[in-house]
Amino acid sequence: MDRQDIINDPEIGNKAEAYEAFDDIPTNPNLTATIGDVINTRYGRRGVLAGMLGVSATTALFGTSALIAPNSAAAATDAASRYIFDELAWGNDETHHVADDYDAQILLRWGDPITADAPAFDVMNQSAAAQLQQFGYNNDYVGFTALNDDGSRGLLCVNHEYTNEEVMFPGLGRQDSAGFSGMTPELIDLEMAAHGGSVVEIEQTDGKWSVVLDGPYNRRITPLNTEMTIDGPAAGHARMKTVADPDGMTVIGTMNNCAGGMTPWGTYLMAEENFHGYFWTENLDGDGKPDISNQSEAASMKRYGVPGMWYAWGTTHDRFNIDKDPNESNRFGWIVEVDPRDPDAKPIKHTALGRFRHEGAETTVSTDGHLVIYSGDDNRFDYQYKYVSGGIVSDDRAANSALLSDGTLYVARFDADGTITWMPLTFGTGPLTAENGFNDQGDVMIDTRIAADLLGATPMDRPEDAQPRGDGTAYIMLTNNNKRKAGDENAANPRAKSDFGHIIEIKEAGGDHAATTGMWSILVKCGDPSLAEVGAHWNPETSENGWFGSPDNAAMDALGRLWVSTDQGSKWGKTGKSDGLYAVETEGDLRGTSKLFFRCPIGGEMCGPYFHDNGETLWVAVQHPGTDGTKDLKGFERSSTFEDPATRWPDFDPTMPPRPSVVVITKKDGGKIAV
Ligand code: FEO
Ligand code: CA
Repeated sequence: MDRQDIINDPEIGNKAEAYEAFDDIPTNPNLTATIGDVINTRYGRRGVLAGMLGVSATTALFGTSALIAPNSAAAATDAASRYIFDELAWGNDETHHVADDYDAQILLRWGDPITADAPAFDVMNQSAAAQLQQFGYNNDYVGFTALNDDGSRGLLCVNHEYTNEEVMFPGLGRQDSAGFSGMTPELIDLEMAAHGGSVVEIEQTDGKWSVVLDGPYNRRITPLNTEMTIDGPAAGHARMKTVADPDGMTVIGTMNNCAGGMTPWGTYLMAEENFHGYFWTENLDGDGKPDISNQSEAASMKRYGVPGMWYAWGTTHDRFNIDKDPNESNRFGWIVEVDPRDPDAKPIKHTALGRFRHEGAETTVSTDGHLVIYSGDDNRFDYQYKYVSGGIVSDDRAANSALLSDGTLYVARFDADGTITWMPLTFGTGPLTAENGFNDQGDVMIDTRIAADLLGATPMDRPEDAQPRGDGTAYIMLTNNNKRKAGDENAANPRAKSDFGHIIEIKEAGGDHAATTGMWSILVKCGDPSLAEVGAHWNPETSENGWFGSPDNAAMDALGRLWVSTDQGSKWGKTGKSDGLYAVETEGDLRGTSKLFFRCPIGGEMCGPYFHDNGETLWVAVQHPGTDGTKDLKGFERSSTFEDPATRWPDFDPTMPPRPSVVVITKKDGGKIAV
């Protein structure tokens, strides 16, 4: 289906105008061409590409099958692929799709009760009290820890990143562009109750997963009412002390929890991403923008984008108003550890892992037994980080938690010769001294970004999830960066105005995730390979269904294979494809080949994914169905409303808006996924 087909498709109706963003990139010559022309163009362009690179260069990057045309060798692809499934066709519609021979069941929806005494979801009579016992909004990270030997019962740990009030509440519309005119104190508390995370017991019976409503571990974690302990170098620091917490040791809640991770001992790490968006000020400059010039934390706030004023929480909760409590924003932007097996245990904010817009926190163990956590700072031109514990992972769960309190945080420099250097963010070393404003390790952690600037870290194209494999290999999702100008490219971020992103592979020295050096290479450059102007780079075995834009989350399955999910956001119209989950080959002749496995309903972002240790269950999270890829006057923004959503997935009930939901995928005849 090409653009003209989409625009003319009566099923898509007025949403076709969303595709006008195609015009932002050079026109696809395929749109008016015959099939023969298309084939000639594709083969011809690939010939040119091979000529430009030289066959040896192409072969080195993608293996010896690199010059085989796409689509013409599907059987050969299937025969050689490490992912045995029939590829899904790309497209867009109001529901989800999974490859043939798999079941994709809705497991948990926004509003579903997660405790035995939780009220049923009543969308027209929502309350914060009810939401605190119901599954939260915008499910993002999904993790699982087993409660029994065969893993048929366990705890699902799910982040709830943010809220879309225009499709949650009747009659409101989008509040951030409406000056928050409809946000009452009750609705603000409801928003807060819908953020955070959920721990939910689930079990598998006769192959089918379901929620255990009376599970003793089931709980919500929210920025409204969940008390947390601060530990590590910034605990008790003068800059962490607030009106409500003069000791700087305790904070209420966590928010904008995007991706995350599970530790080897089964605790759940929640990454705090766009925390800046929740802070507020009354001081505006002549352009109506926040004026922080008189703030004691002005330099730090500027580097972190505080206050973002995306939500009106600061109008009713003073701690989110920087004029009233300037240090509260220093207490967000961290990694939070939750023990899902102990519902009474306070979550812990581990400041040793640094403060930035943490996308995720994927863990692995080094050859010597140190805990290693990869975490990206998802902002244009920000950095990739890695944490290595001082101590060793053991069988002692309580002792293991201390591994997150005492270790070394590193930031990455990617050099043009293919080496990566991990530079320690340690007070007193290099420029991290009082001369540059750092008085202790707490300052270095609170101002991680400023410290990394001084060390000369490599500015990246929005580092999202980073996925280690355990053998010294890790994959970094760089989602896009349309602000990188020609001339600002670097070897690891080689495209100006990158609308589609790329994936970097890291091979740590000696296969050791704790190594401070290694090698890097680009696995794929994303976007449509049939448009030379896009500059995409895939193994040519990748079909028109398989290429994607804006890699975001990633997972390793039980066989060490890479799976990548996408979040195109406002770039959605530039591919015309719904977000989805793709299997991406990293080894052998097919290295750099991608296959589409699951696709979201229109406007949804693909989050999760997470594989059961036995490889037989895959959880994915569909975030904000209906809200990306539909157009308002600003372009590709969230234009669906409660009354008129782009889809009513997954209920398709005319009284119910779209609901973010976790989907559980199993093979129809059992067995491992894609084997
Ligand atoms: Fe929450 Fe970087 O995506
Ligand atoms: Ca991941």
